[in-house]
Order: sequence, then structure tokens, then C-alpha cells
Amino acid sequence: MSLQDLLTVVPAGSEEEELVRSIDFGRLPRHVAVIMDGNGRWAKLRHKRRVEGHRAGIHAVRDTIETSARIGLEVLTLYAFSIENWKRPQSEVSTLMSLLKKYLRSELDTLLRNNIRFRVLGRPHELPADVQEELQRAEERTSANEGLSFNIALNYGGRAEITDAVRELFRELLHDGRDPSRIDERALAAHLYTAGQPDPDLLIRTSGELRISNFLLWQIAYAEIWVTDVLWPDFRRRHLLQAIGDYQKRDRRYGGITTV
Ligand code: IPE
Ligand code: IPE
Ligand code: MG
Repeated sequence: MSLQDLLTVVPAGSEEEELVRSIDFGRLPRHVAVIMDGNGRWAKLRHKRRVEGHRAGIHAVRDTIETSARIGLEVLTLYAFSIENWKRPQSEVSTLMSLLKKYLRSELDTLLRNNIRFRVLGRPHELPADVQEELQRAEERTSANEGLSFNIALNYGGRAEITDAVRELFRELLHDGRDPSRIDERALAAHLYTAGQPDPDLLIRTSGELRISNFLLWQIAYAEIWVTDVLWPDFRRRHLLQAIGDYQKRDRRYGGITTV
């Protein structure tokens, strides 16, 4: 997975090829996280029902996963359904769940073929049983894969994640009779849904909204944020390449001073 790999799918002489060639493959973000937003507005613009926007968003999901794998990213996290999204009409929620199930069924082979590891971030046990089964199957079948780690944030909330981590950490401490004053950032991070994965370097949000919407609150402490007005169903390879190109121009100081 590399420059050559990407060039095989990019038309020669295109603007996209130029974008690919401008990327420094030695300085890629390790983890890219995406708030996939704007499906409803995409549908509204076309006088369609909101769920048609979700359906169309699946093309963008496929394109983003394929591009991420070709680029050679370590982790890609897509925010698919927040805990707060249960507030939506029941018909929209159930269509989202059935689209997700269909997606997992139809894409599992592609994930396997491309050595992609699939993981759920969130509280999957609160999802419908048939969806849970599909998720578990995809996690198990891809568990030995060592290429791109593809996380889907599902029934996910950043505050819920931190709360779950603290609860689990306390349970362990009590069980082992250890002193809670020894809790530190490393111990807490090891109990998050993303345990063992690097924090996102780049956070992308589509549809122009300038907010975090309870996404990866702990992990994005020093992520570079990139917002585009493009609505999620229109998001394609070139947008991801643009985001990575812009990311590589940023000066990440982590509270320190510029070193270049
Ligand atoms: C993102 O699109 C998909 C989910 C949150 C599930 P929206 O459905 O939020 O679309 P807008 O923001 O209403 O346009
Ligand atoms: C964020 O989008 C959640 C997902 C992308 C799954 P929302 O559309 O739910 O966010 P708000 O309500 O605009 O903050
Ligand atoms: Mg939205």
C-alpha cells in the first residue's frame, strides 16, 4: 500500500494524480477519524427522503475505506451513529440499522480480501440483536487482519466512552485492592474503546458544521481538524487526499514551540 498502489486507480494527468504526488508518504497521519455528516441535507437538496441520503452515503464509505487502505493509513474511524442519534424518528433509525447490516454483509469479503480489521467503538450491546450478530461476525472474521484498522463508531458517545472506561478501571482496582490514586492518563486510555490504537492525528468533518458532536473527546486532544462543506454522500478520494495534504502543511506544536 503506497504511492504506486494509489496511482493504479488515479487517472494519469488528472488533478487527483497531482494531489497523490504532493503527499509525503513518510509523514502520513496514523489515524484519520471522520464525522460523516450531511446525508439529510444531501437528500433534501434533491427533494428526496433523508434515508436516501444515508443510502447514498455508503458510496462515500466504500471510497474512503478503499483509499485509506491504499494510502497505507493505520487506523480509520468513521462516526456512523451517536447515542444522541436515537432522538431521530424511529423509521430513520431502523433504516440506518438495516443499511448498516446490509453493508456489513456485502462488504465483509472486501474487508477480508484487503486485510482490513473491523472494530466497533461504542455500546453495541444496546443495538438490535440482528445488527449485533452481524457486527460480531465481522469483528471475529477480520480479527487476524493486519492491514488498515477500520473502526466504526456506533451507538457511540465520547462521554459515555470515558464513563465506561472509568467504571471498568475502578472495577479492576477494587478487585485487585489497588490504590485509586495511581490512576493516570495511560491507565484511563487503556480502558477506552480505542485501547491500543494511536489517537487520531486528523479529524475530518463534512457538511461544514464546526462542532465535535461528542466524538472521541479524549482522543482528539491534539488532532488537526479539517472541515469541508462537501456533504458526506459527495465525499470522495480527492477530498481525503486534500485533507491529508493540508494536514501535512500544519505545524503541530502540542503546546510547545515551532521546531521547523
Ligand atoms: C449524517 O448525516 C449521518 C448520521 C448522523 C447518521 P445526517 O443525517 O446528520 O445529515 P444532516 O446533518 O441532517 O444533513
Ligand atoms: C454527528 O452528526 C454524528 C454522526 C456523524 C454519526 P449529527 O448530525 O448527529 O450531529 P449534530 O446533531 O449536528 O451535532
Ligand atoms: Mg447531521
